[in-house]
Amino acid sequence: METTAEDAAERAAGRLVQVIEERTGQGKECFLALCGGTTPSELYRRLASPPLLESIPWHDVHIFFGDERDVPQDHVENNYRLVTKTLLDHVPVPLTQVHPMPADCRDLTAAAEQYENLIRRLVPAENDDLPTFDLILLGMGAEGHTASLFPDTPALAERERLVVAQFVPVIGRNRMTFTFPLINAARNVMFFITGADKADAVAAVLSDDPERASGYPAARVQPRSGNVIFVLDGPAARAIHE
Ligand code: 6PG
Repeated sequence: METTAEDAAERAAGRLVQVIEERTGQGKECFLALCGGTTPSELYRRLASPPLLESIPWHDVHIFFGDERDVPQDHVENNYRLVTKTLLDHVPVPLTQVHPMPADCRDLTAAAEQYENLIRRLVPAENDDLPTFDLILLGMGAEGHTASLFPDTPALAERERLVVAQFVPVIGRNRMTFTFPLINAARNVMFFITGADKADAVAAVLSDDPERASGYPAARVQPRSGNVIFVLDGPAARAIHE
C-alpha cells in the first residue's frame, strides 16, 4: 500500500525527534532550521501533540528558519506564522530560542547579513568554522527549488554568504534564504516531500544521472559530512525508478 502523506508526516516527525534526542542525550542543545510551505504543517502538528509533545526536551531546542517570504509575520504567507500556529503556540520552547527571519525589512541585504551574524553567534561551528545545524528541514517545489533557492537565481552560486536575500522572478517576490554553504554544513538535512506534482523532481534529484538532476536546485544539497534524509509519501516517490 502506498505511503500516505500522514504516514510520511509521522515518519518525518520520528526522524526529527530522533535527531533531537541524540543531541540532547549528549547533554547538548539542538539547533534546528524549519521550513514553510504547505507540506510541513502535519509534521509540526504531530510534534506539538502527544506523545511527541511531552517527549521532546523543548528547553534544549533552538529554532531558526531556512527561508522566509517578504511579508509581515502576521501575513498568511509568512513561514514563521505557519510554524507558530502549528507548533510554537503549543510547545514550551523558550521564545528567546526562536529566531524568525526578518524578511519584510526595507533593507533586505542588511537584514540577511544580520541573520547570518546571529546564526554565526549562536549556532556552534564544527565544519570548517561554519555553523552546524543539527537538522535543517527542507521541502521542495515541483521545479526543484528548496528553501528559497530557485532555479536560475543568483543565490545558487553563492559560496561565501550563509544567508542572502534575492528577488525571485518566477514568483515576482523577494525572499530571504539559507545558501548551500550553510545547508551543506548541517549534520542532518531532511527533505519532507509529498504529492504527485513533486514526483518528477524527486526522481531527478535522486537519480544517479547528474545531467538529469542538474536543473534542480535541491540536487545541490550534498552535506560535506552530514546525512541527507528523504521522507516521501507514495505519490512523491512514484517516479523514482522510472
Ligand atoms: C517556502 C518553503 C519552500 C517550500 C517549497 C514546497 O518558503 O515556500 O521554504 O521551499 O518548502 O516551496 O512548498 P509546499 O510544501 O507548499 O509544496
